[in-house]
Amino acid sequence: MLAVLKRNAEDVSLHTAKLIAGAIRRKPALRLGMATGNTMVGVYRELVQMHREEGLDFSRVVTFNLDEYLGVDANHPGSLRHFMDEHFFTKVNLAPANIHAPDGTIRGGYEEYCAGYEKAIREAGGIDVQLLGIGRNGHIGFNEPTSSLGSRTRLKVLGDETIADNYKLFGTIGDVPKCAITVGIGTILECKRILLLATGDAKADAVMKAIEGPVTSAVPASALQHHPDVTFILDEGAAARLSQKEYYRRVLEMTERLTPERLS
Ligand code: F6R
Repeated sequence: MLAVLKRNAEDVSLHTAKLIAGAIRRKPALRLGMATGNTMVGVYRELVQMHREEGLDFSRVVTFNLDEYLGVDANHPGSLRHFMDEHFFTKVNLAPANIHAPDGTIRGGYEEYCAGYEKAIREAGGIDVQLLGIGRNGHIGFNEPTSSLGSRTRLKVLGDETIADNYKLFGTIGDVPKCAITVGIGTILECKRILLLATGDAKADAVMKAIEGPVTSAVPASALQHHPDVTFILDEGAAARLSQKEYYRRVLEMTERLTPERLS
């Protein structure tokens, strides 16, 4: 595990975008796992700017989104597909056929549909770099607390904190879909490299538990302790409750010195 401690959300976004840009330049057909949410807005803004100003080329990149609310289509302002279209998909040169995202409009046949999504990831060759945010309750994707740490893509019932954090684009709390399709924790753990971003002190408790607490389904992000290549990119607020900050800084410094390729 690497923890990159940045001053603010802008630096978190820029650092992450640079890592992704480096990965695309090394491997133009990169398979990229996408997340949505406030934390990701700045990352996509930086990537769009790199596309426009430096010619960062997404034409061969293949994307898989983590999740989608059940019962909403891409035109709904609360849908995660709408978020992706608004912040990223319509602003870079991704090939439409290379974009994959769970479809929130399916009715029934969920198990088959989710197995198909898993198959598409596998047939693409697996995900090279997975972007993750973290919920205040420690969720990754929409894998809420008590999710199986070996779970695969499936329907998941959303918890109260998740509903409360995301109601604005739906109107009222009562209008937020109760279920979502999400890639599973087991699926996430198969990605080659994971970048988890968190900003703001509302995430400090979840981040501390994910990094320094026991591995438990009560904090789904703690499962990442089992992954060999996870980088947490945190601002001061999100890192506030970590007890080993000086050690993480030393690890980063030594990584920069001894294996700098791990940071690019
Ligand atoms: C969204 C997702 C969620 C968010 C998390 C943080 O695709 O998978 O796990 O990453 O809820 O959301 P924000 O960034 O809005 O705090």
